[in-house]
Amino acid sequence: MLWKGFLVCAALLALAECKAARSVGHEPRKFPDGFLFGTATASYQIEGAWDKDGKSPNIWDHMTHSDPCLIKDCSNGDVADDSYHLYKRDVEMMRELGIDYYRFSMSWTRLMPTSFSDYINPAGVEFYNNYINEMMKYNITPMVTLYHWDLPQKLQEMGGWTNPNIVDWYADYARTVYSLFGDRVKFWITMNEPNIVCYNGYGDTSMAPRLNLKGVAEYLCAKNLLMAHAKAWHIYDEEFRSTQGGTVSITLSSTWFEPEDKNNEDHVQAAEDSNQFDWGQYAHPIFSESGGFPPEMVKNIGAKSAAQGFARSRLPEFTEEEKAYVRGTSDYFGLNHYSSKLAYRNESAYGYHEAPSFFDDTDTVSYNLEEWKIGESDFVKVTPWGFYNILTKIRKDYNNPSVYITENGFATLGGLEDEDRITYYRSYLAAMLDAIDEGSDIKAYTAWSIMDNFEWMQGYTERFGLYEVDYSDPARPRTPRKSAFVYKEIVRTRTLDFDYEPDTTVMTIDEGH
Ligand code: BGC
Repeated sequence: MLWKGFLVCAALLALAECKAARSVGHEPRKFPDGFLFGTATASYQIEGAWDKDGKSPNIWDHMTHSDPCLIKDCSNGDVADDSYHLYKRDVEMMRELGIDYYRFSMSWTRLMPTSFSDYINPAGVEFYNNYINEMMKYNITPMVTLYHWDLPQKLQEMGGWTNPNIVDWYADYARTVYSLFGDRVKFWITMNEPNIVCYNGYGDTSMAPRLNLKGVAEYLCAKNLLMAHAKAWHIYDEEFRSTQGGTVSITLSSTWFEPEDKNNEDHVQAAEDSNQFDWGQYAHPIFSESGGFPPEMVKNIGAKSAAQGFARSRLPEFTEEEKAYVRGTSDYFGLNHYSSKLAYRNESAYGYHEAPSFFDDTDTVSYNLEEWKIGESDFVKVTPWGFYNILTKIRKDYNNPSVYITENGFATLGGLEDEDRITYYRSYLAAMLDAIDEGSDIKAYTAWSIMDNFEWMQGYTERFGLYEVDYSDPARPRTPRKSAFVYKEIVRTRTLDFDYEPDTTVMTIDEGH
């Protein structure tokens, strides 16, 4: 079966950019030796037990309780998948899939209910010890994200990521977590998707805390978050690495922006600028030779701020010392990727977005095409060529760093027969293999998600799981979808076979687990 993304790619874009299209040969393709497979979740999205055993509220508890119907189905994460109680079943699913590692996040307010290190909550420590030990018993490597969006509400009330003191607050949290679990956890991710934290939460209303302080707060957040990340990396490097021997990285969200017309220089520049603003904002300070925010951002935001009458650039600069402190603070490139957009710039792009704002600062317009959609959900469009393009750009721009794909996945509206998700996964894995064939050093692939979970503002309406979760049942049963069987076979054989048809009648534990 041909999948639509490639057809659209061929129809829309110059063929040279559609190299991933050659994956449509359907010869089974092997993954490189040592390549790792995992799945991912995040604390607020699965744990539930929002106030159990001493946990204090985070910004998602606060927001969903203050104004329940901000969430599409007026739901919240109070119970979610109840992994706080059902963690053994979670590990059983990992064993069924046969995955090498499991990426999950820790809840700051479960471990440190005051937000600070004056009190460590024993029940929180016990929960994560149990989760980690249960995984390790079955040969599944834990990969821990320190921060996946659930900031202590108390810290938010003190300005959250716009308050520079958060660099120390976060560093104390990181040090505590390394000391508690670092004897067993060797893969750390400091932050999940800084751009979503800062843009959606501070510059917009699409994530907690919905501050909507456009064109200013998201940039203050970005600098503080990068400094906090860097401090957590340095702490590990100086205080823990020699005894614990692990790695610390950051995971960036990334949309790929493709020029609407590749022969139009303005469109090409618009796409480049959009890539720099979207994920270069966080990649450049850490992975580039020169450090600091991307030059495109510094120039554009500086010029616009001056024209708008601000006394200084709305983008806080890094000092030379800070640039050096942040540069190189990631042991590999953690990449979350789902989809792409087309970008253009012409007269209409100037003044298209309200000003000041992040999008006005880019002077570009971007959109996706209806043809890229498959299935019912609007959430993720199928553009595997964009995955290939971003992996190629990372290889070229940042001297071929090791890349861990820490999320990739597809939403449906539910149901066990999820052909669209299978199509998505296969096409993106093929595009990733194309990049590997051309020299990209990609070490691991993580499917988002092992099971349905609280999908932020979409509540439980959008389903990303390889396993379906029944939210009408208090026992929150998890049932494998067809895609779970397909992923299991990919992991077992370390081969991408487009023609494989699973027997979905019985799910068994994988032999190695
Ligand atoms: C986030 C996840 C989220 C997923 C699907 C990623 O950006 O890290 O928390 O559920 O996208 O929207």
